[in-house]
This record gives sequence, structure tokens and C-alpha cells, in this order.
Amino acid sequence: MTDLKSIPTSKEDLDRYEVENIFHSWSYQPSQAPLRVVSAKGIRFVTEDGRERLDFSSCFASHNIGHQDQRVVDAIVAQAKTLCGFAPNFSTKPRATLAKMLAEVTPGDLSRCFITLGGTEANEAAIKIAHQYTGKRKIVGRYRSYHGATAVPMTLSRGDARNWAQVEGGTDWLSVPQPYCYRCMFGQKYPDCEMRCVKYVDEVMELEGGADKIAGIIFEPITGANGILIPPPEYFPMLRAVCDKYGALMIADEVMSGFGRTGKWFAIDHWNVVPDIMTMAKGTTCGYLPLGVTIARKHIGDKFKEQFFSHGATYAGHALCCAAAVRVLQIYEEDNLIENSAKMGKYLLEKATELKDKHPCVGDVRGLGLFVGIELVKNKKTREPIMPVAAKIRPGLNPKLEVAKRLGELGMMAMAANPGNTINLAPPFIVTKDEIDEGIGIMDKALEVADKYAV
Ligand SMILES: Cc1ncc(COP(=O)(O)O)c(C=O)c1O
Repeated sequence: MTDLKSIPTSKEDLDRYEVENIFHSWSYQPSQAPLRVVSAKGIRFVTEDGRERLDFSSCFASHNIGHQDQRVVDAIVAQAKTLCGFAPNFSTKPRATLAKMLAEVTPGDLSRCFITLGGTEANEAAIKIAHQYTGKRKIVGRYRSYHGATAVPMTLSRGDARNWAQVEGGTDWLSVPQPYCYRCMFGQKYPDCEMRCVKYVDEVMELEGGADKIAGIIFEPITGANGILIPPPEYFPMLRAVCDKYGALMIADEVMSGFGRTGKWFAIDHWNVVPDIMTMAKGTTCGYLPLGVTIARKHIGDKFKEQFFSHGATYAGHALCCAAAVRVLQIYEEDNLIENSAKMGKYLLEKATELKDKHPCVGDVRGLGLFVGIELVKNKKTREPIMPVAAKIRPGLNPKLEVAKRLGELGMMAMAANPGNTINLAPPFIVTKDEIDEGIGIMDKALEVADKYAV
């Protein structure tokens, strides 16, 4: 064994370790190391080759407040000097404070939370709570969703090719379409459709055992990785009514859409609907440290005063991560960042929409807040998708990866490796109009790569 104090760390050594010693997420294992990031500030990051690039993905919609905000670094350092972490059966000040802050910012009486280390764990906890609270086994998932990489969220990530390798289980599940008006699975047009997609959920829930069997439905209020899908105004109020009819819990996965990404604290706030359970991660700590949250309404939380709460984790409510989250939440407020997401989001959508007329490959542009999707097509008229669903996991089918490569060469990162046909733009909330112009200028050039696939 090499002496651990003298592990060689030249550029070549590090590149070799990347290639030989790391599983890289959701990909064929590369023969070349990815670019190494050495620093980041605000909305830009610098790689080892000295190049600076724009981060228009906020590192998968997590770094909402921007990179290396000294206020968060100071809060982490202060907490680390006092107490990094402790066994979760004891209280710590950051954990208790964060729990109260989350109860304040989330809608309605969402108030009791379980604090984990990431989004998938938050969804695991949500599903367990739904099963334990209702005593029922079936969870409805929606096609074109992503809820995380561990077993149950992956099982419920319906219609995302990453799900195909999953040995499904941990819950009884069934699938329904989501309101994807650009490609309605019922072949309908809004508003003539009279919300066929919600009526279908009602029918499916009834046929699958209704109040006896359905524990809940999990959904991204605005679907992220699978294409910035924004439901019509009626959708969530109607879904709320269907869930109430069958005593099924509404589980809102706000891991990507939460904390101001769509211009309100949470995406579901655009519909004024209170879900029974909400999950979050990413923007809770903005990537400064890992953290995820599952929060439940009061009556659900209170039931576990009489019923054993059968879930836990050694690092549940980790003090250091909670201290980072406390400071991040204050910064959203202090700097009016959520208002800025709404304001700059309008500008970003306007500028991105201009790309639709310029590029044969752009079929649709949609967004809310700083969460804007550019949907690529082979044919604008027929709306034929630029690639099949399997493109995410099979080589050679994915023109979006060529766009991603071109973006990198031109000096920007966006969310182009996500499944589906959409490239998502999700810059940090501190972005300015000039930076949006710069990003859209780069995007304009990069899309030329995809234009050659379009007719
Ligand atoms: C909506 C949604 N839910 C859950 C997850 C999983 O979160 P994590 O990667 O932190 O486990 C993600 C990740 O992108 C997500 O977008």
C-alpha cells in the first residue's frame, strides 16, 4: 500500500484516479478525466486550465445564492469550531432553528421535519411516512419524473430511462401521465381538455382500490430534469380534491423546484395548494454542504406521538449542514433573492423565447422564475422529439450532449445532460441582465450544433 501521506497528486495522477477509482454518475465510465474545478465565485467557475465559465445550471439547480458566499462559509466555520455534529437523539441549536425556519417558509401547516443529507433520502422518508401514516401500500408516480437514485424514489421515477436498471420495490407503485401540454399523452389541447390528466388520476385511484389502497401521489410541482413541465392553473387544486376523496397524501417533491427557483419560495405556492408532505434539498444549503428535508403537515407529524416513527439516520439533522441551511435561508430574505429569481426569470424566458424563431431545433420554450427549458425537436411542425427516451442511457443517440460540449467550449454550463429533450437554464438568483444576455448569446451559438438534426 502507498504511504497515505505521500499519495502523488500531480495533474496526471489525479486524472488517473478519476478514470480508475471513481464511479461517475449516470454515465459510461469515461476514459478521460472530466475538467477539474479549482474555484468558483458568484455565477462563474474556474477550471484547472485557467478558464472561467458561466454556471447557468447552478450545479443542477442547487447553488441558488451563487458560489462561495462568504457569509455561508463564515457560518459553517463558526459552527465547525463549536460542534460539527452529534448523535441525532440530542438537540443542537442549528437543527432546532432550521426546523422552525422551515415551518415558517413552507405553506400551510407543514411543520414537522426529518432532516437528511440529500433529495433522494428526503423522498425515501416521505414515502415511508406516507405508508406508516395511512397504513396503505400504493403510491402513484407520474411519467417523466425524477425523485432520486435510491431504491424507492428510483422506483417512482417513472418514464425516466435511469429507472430501467432499477429492481423495483420498497413500495407498491403505479404510474400516471403528467400535464405536459406540449405533448399531451391524451392527445388533448388545454383548455378544451377539461383537465383529462387529473380525471385520469381520479379513475386510476378508484380502480386501484381508492381509499382502501392509495397511500399517496408523488410529483414535482414543476418537473425539472425531465423538461420544465408547468401544469395549468386548475391542475393542483383539482388534484388536491382527488387526493382528499381517497385519503391519499399529496407529496410535493420540491428538491429542484423549491427555495425560489420558480420565483416563489416553493413551486406549489403558484397554485396556493398545501401538500401533505413536501421534500427539499439542493437550495436548502445551496450545495455548501449536503442536506435534504422531509416536512409533514401537523396532523401527520402528531400521529407519530402515538405511533412509532420507523425511520432514522446517524447524520439526521447534522449540525454543520443545518448551520449552513440557516444562513442560506436568511440570505434568500436579506438579499431579496426570490424576488430577483421572479424578475430575472421573466427576462430569461423572454430572451430564451427569441431563440425559438432563430433555431429550427427549438420546438418550445417555457419557464417560471429562473427555471427555463428549451425543448429540442427534429421537426417543429410535427413536434417529433430530437431524441428518444432511451437516449439518456444508450450511446450515440443524444444530440443534447453535443450541445453541452459546445457550451463548454464557448464558456458556459447549462443542464443539458438531463433526460428528455429539454436543455434547462437555471442560473443562480444573483444573475444580472447582462449575464443573461451573455448566457443566451452563448446558447444561441451552441444550438447551431442541434440545428443540423432538425428539418
Ligand atoms: C426533483 C428531484 N427529486 C429528487 C432528486 C434527488 O436529489 P439528490 O440528488 O440530492 O439525491 C433530484 C435530483 O436532481 C430532483 O431533481
